[in-house]
Amino acid sequence: NWSMETFVEDKIREIRDTVGDRKVLCALSGGVDSSVVAALIHRAIGDQLTCMFIDHNLLRKGEAEGVMETFTGKFDMNVIKIDARERFMSKLAGVSDPEQKRKIIGNEFIYCFDEESAKLGEFDFLAQGTLYTDIVESGTATAETIKSHHNVGGLPEDMKFQLIEPLNALFKDEVRKVGEELGLPREIVWRQPFPGPGLAIRVLGEVTEDKLVIVRESDAILREEIAKAGLDNEIWQYFTALPDMKSVGVMGDSRTYSYTVGIRAVTSIDGMTADWARIPWDILEKISVRIVNEVENVNRIVYDVTSKPPATIEWE
Ligand code: XMP
Repeated sequence: NWSMETFVEDKIREIRDTVGDRKVLCALSGGVDSSVVAALIHRAIGDQLTCMFIDHNLLRKGEAEGVMETFTGKFDMNVIKIDARERFMSKLAGVSDPEQKRKIIGNEFIYCFDEESAKLGEFDFLAQGTLYTDIVESGTATAETIKSHHNVGGLPEDMKFQLIEPLNALFKDEVRKVGEELGLPREIVWRQPFPGPGLAIRVLGEVTEDKLVIVRESDAILREEIAKAGLDNEIWQYFTALPDMKSVGVMGDSRTYSYTVGIRAVTSIDGMTADWARIPWDILEKISVRIVNEVENVNRIVYDVTSKPPATIEWE
């Protein structure tokens, strides 16, 4: 019978025993898993933990700022922010194949982490938010073979760190309970799933700064309206995607030729299958009107009414 308080106490003791007076490095992504790991290890060993947060320019609006605020502010943790925006954008320039985009981002993340951590000096341990399901899924032909993930198995072979993976026996709902126990904010603990490659797979085709702005801004509007409508607990995942297409519209007296934004919202248990969410039409209308009015270069909104299968949740 799993009790969250004993889990946290036991893990803290275990982490202290393992680490002693040595130093731990943790890659913080802003996701639930790495956030909970960071908070847990910080509770155990305080300043012996250093976190690295890589801003690859592919996060949602306000996320990088939010992560830094929470962890350096409220938790007073040692977080080093790496501005890798240029680096990722230049690697992605000219690349339009979805799997290639994923590989580039996964690899670049590891190179960037390696280079930057070398600059920080010696660490004995690397903390990771690996869950039980990550371990199980990586060995089987599930979503991983359809779209390559990079959470597991992407580490360099000559790794000088010892790994600490305190969540590797837990399921997602248990991780959230641990996060709540540790006092992490709701936005982090109940954050909807977000893919490692981030907004790069929501800009279909080549990723450019202009297109990222459209996805970031339209997604922020969608999230705001879904929250206002009180639908954020019912819908499992919701976001906007930018297909690589323009169409004709009219604004005032003039013809426009601008981008189409797709809205994706699904209900699901585990992401393996999903149904498109029946968002009330008046809410969809509000979202549509706001995106077209507030986001430049957009003149059309479409709603994705396909389930998974046959579609996937993400568009790439
Ligand atoms: P799909 O699009 O395969 O997505 O139906 C299922 C769930 O997985 C997320 N997803 C990813 N997560 N790295 C991740 O960490 C990835 O490359 C990746 N691709 C998809 C997706 O957001 C959805 O929740």
